[in-house]
Amino acid sequence: MTTSHQSTIEAALDSVLNPRTGTGMMASGMIADLDVAADGAATFTVLLRREDPATLVRQVRQALTAAGLPQPKIAVRDPEGPAPTTHAAPQSASAGVPAAPVPSEIPGLGRVIAISSGKGGVGKSTVAINVAVALAERGLRVGIMDADIYGPNLPRMAGVYEKPAVRDGLIQPLEAWGVKLMSIGFLVDRDAPAIWRGPIIMKVINQFLRDVAWGELDCFIVDMPPGTGDAQLSLVQSVLVSGAVIVTTPQEMSVGDALRGAKMFERVNVPMFGIVENMSGFLDPVTGMRHDLFGTGGGERLAEELDAELLGQVPLQGGMADAADRGRPIVIEAPTTAAAVMLREIADRIWAKASTVRQRMPVLEG
Ligand SMILES: Nc1ncnc2c1ncn2[C@@H]1O[C@H](COP(=O)(O)OP(=O)(O)OP(=O)(O)O)[C@@H](O)[C@H]1O
Ligand SMILES: [Mg+2]
Repeated sequence: MTTSHQSTIEAALDSVLNPRTGTGMMASGMIADLDVAADGAATFTVLLRREDPATLVRQVRQALTAAGLPQPKIAVRDPEGPAPTTHAAPQSASAGVPAAPVPSEIPGLGRVIAISSGKGGVGKSTVAINVAVALAERGLRVGIMDADIYGPNLPRMAGVYEKPAVRDGLIQPLEAWGVKLMSIGFLVDRDAPAIWRGPIIMKVINQFLRDVAWGELDCFIVDMPPGTGDAQLSLVQSVLVSGAVIVTTPQEMSVGDALRGAKMFERVNVPMFGIVENMSGFLDPVTGMRHDLFGTGGGERLAEELDAELLGQVPLQGGMADAADRGRPIVIEAPTTAAAVMLREIADRIWAKASTVRQRMPVLEG
């Protein structure tokens, strides 16, 4: 019964003490919009002030899991930040999803495109950086943000390890291959304990969106961490996301995860630009024969299930991981390989969608 779940949840939340106030999370008014599903899965917002310790969100999550409850959906918000307004979408309300804040457009960022997946290691960062570089090669002004604060990939993938400068109170983005870059990996030491980085995903994402001197961009690519967690929620609540791209592998397993990932964007009314199937077979460079190492059809099935477009199937490309580790995206390192050609096509397809939603944007030539 929901009420018993409700009291278990409230007790678990209150077992986590805010050292600043000495009281539990419920008692200190740090939990808002608490909603409990029939199975006990809680959805709520943690109101985290600047002076609150970064670890509270993680502790809350652990306390709920320790109490035998399902994974909660947690959004994080600074109560002193801009107050969210109520979401108007009627289907969200009828689906029992709590009202989400209406995200605003951030002038200058252009089209915001989230590259997400259900499962880790399927190639989000690979797709994100190659699409970004391909669009920059087409003459667009492109930025890319690494929204993974626990395992940032961007410094390694772009081969950039400098510390960004701060000028006039704004963090200056770094640049590689004509793309502006920002990642928590530029700001903290690689071996900094995760606790230092803290689960203040909302704060980091907001800062990266608003306190970085991005300049005027056409297109802003967000490389998400895997799953349907706090980063995804934080992003869609912080800025108007033009669309999401879901990366999956051909395996059935990761398609199920990807489906959950995609549904999350659907619930918050972010358009689905489509599916990228990555590591989709191996093209033998000598014979040109295709070998399906990881099964087939996952991307297609997912696209069908979501009524979304299959934006492309990127083959497993020998040497790609090596080049990526040296900071060289495949569209730069080996632009004529099947993977690079496909990634450029995917970039064009994504931009074709992004540039036609709502406001007018520059159109690619050629
Ligand atoms: N098509 C491909 N061919 C060969 N190697 C690939 C391909 N796509 C990705 N890889 C390699 O697979 C590894 C995982 O890819 P990547 O880091 O892009 O995944 P991710 O989804 O961003 O992972 P995480 O969830 O950890 O952020 C990397 O070493 C990458 O270079
Ligand atoms: Mg990644």
